[in-house]
Amino acid sequence: MSNTTEEYVRQFYDEHGWARGGEDELFRQFRPAYKPYHEGTIARTLACFESCAGRLLIVGCGDMPRSHVELGEQFAATVCFDISRVALDIAAQRVSKAKTQLGSICEAPFPDATFDAVFASHVIYHIDASLQEQAVREMIRVVKPGGRVVVVYSNPKSPIRYAAGIVHRLRKLFAPKVAVKESGLYFSPYPLGWWKRFSDSCDVSMKPWDVIGSYEERTLIPADWLASLFYAMARVTERTLPKLAVRIWQYPIIVLGRR
Ligand SMILES: C[S@@+](CC[C@H](N)C(=O)[O-])C[C@H]1O[C@@H](n2cnc3c(N)ncnc32)[C@H](O)[C@@H]1O
Repeated sequence: MSNTTEEYVRQFYDEHGWARGGEDELFRQFRPAYKPYHEGTIARTLACFESCAGRLLIVGCGDMPRSHVELGEQFAATVCFDISRVALDIAAQRVSKAKTQLGSICEAPFPDATFDAVFASHVIYHIDASLQEQAVREMIRVVKPGGRVVVVYSNPKSPIRYAAGIVHRLRKLFAPKVAVKESGLYFSPYPLGWWKRFSDSCDVSMKPWDVIGSYEERTLIPADWLASLFYAMARVTERTLPKLAVRIWQYPIIVLGRR
C-alpha cells in the first residue's frame, strides 16, 4: 500500500514535476508581492540552522531551490537525497560540491547519527500517512544527539486552506473555467498536535513559515494590490504574534532538537 503511494509520487516527479516543469506550474506561481515576502521565509528557514555546521542531509531535495543551496553552503558536507532520479540530476548540476543519493527516507540508507542536521521541506506530507511517523523517526535516527531535524510541513486546519476549499468548490460549480487546476499529487498532512509524539526523543518547537500556498493564493487573491496588503499583514502578524501565525498559516516549520 505504502509502496503504491511512493511509486505514484516518484512517477509524478520523474515524469512531470521535475521533467516538465509541473512543480513550477502547479506550486510556484505567485503574484509579485509574494517574492519579497518569500525572502522572509528563506530567512526563517536559515535561522533554524543557526550555529549548525558539519554534515547536512536534505531529504526530498527536489530541484534544490535557493533556500536549500544557501543552507548547503553553510555546511562542510551536504547529501541531497530524493526518490526522484530526475530531481537528483538537477540537484547535482545546481550544487556541484554536494553528494546526491537516491532512496526513500522511510528506509534511510545511513548509519545512526551520521548528520549534524536534517532538512525536509514539503516532503513528509507527500509520504503515505501510515509511513510518515517512520520517515520522521528515520530522520531523528540519522541525526546526532544535539543535532536538529527541521521540517517544513502543512497545517491541515489552517483557515486559509478551508477558505480556499470553499471558494474552489463554488467556482467549480458556477464558473469552472476560472477554477484553479488541482495537482492530483498525494497530500496528507496530520494536524500539528501529531508532532508531539516526537517529544520522547526530541525538543519539539514550531514557527510560522509561509502564510499561503500558490494554489490558495490564486484561488483567494484576485488582484496584485490585495496580495501586497495580504503579505504586509502577514509579515506584521508573524513578527508580533508568531504562535497565532503557526496555527493560522498554511505552512509551519517544525524543529526537532534531538536530545
Ligand atoms: C514538493 S517537492 C519539494 C522539493 C524541495 N524540497 C522544495 O522545498 O521545493 C517533494 C520532493 O520530495 C521527494 N520525495 C517524496 N517522497 C520522498 C521519500 N519518501 N523520500 C525521499 N524523497 C521523497 C519528491 O521526489 C520531491 O522531489
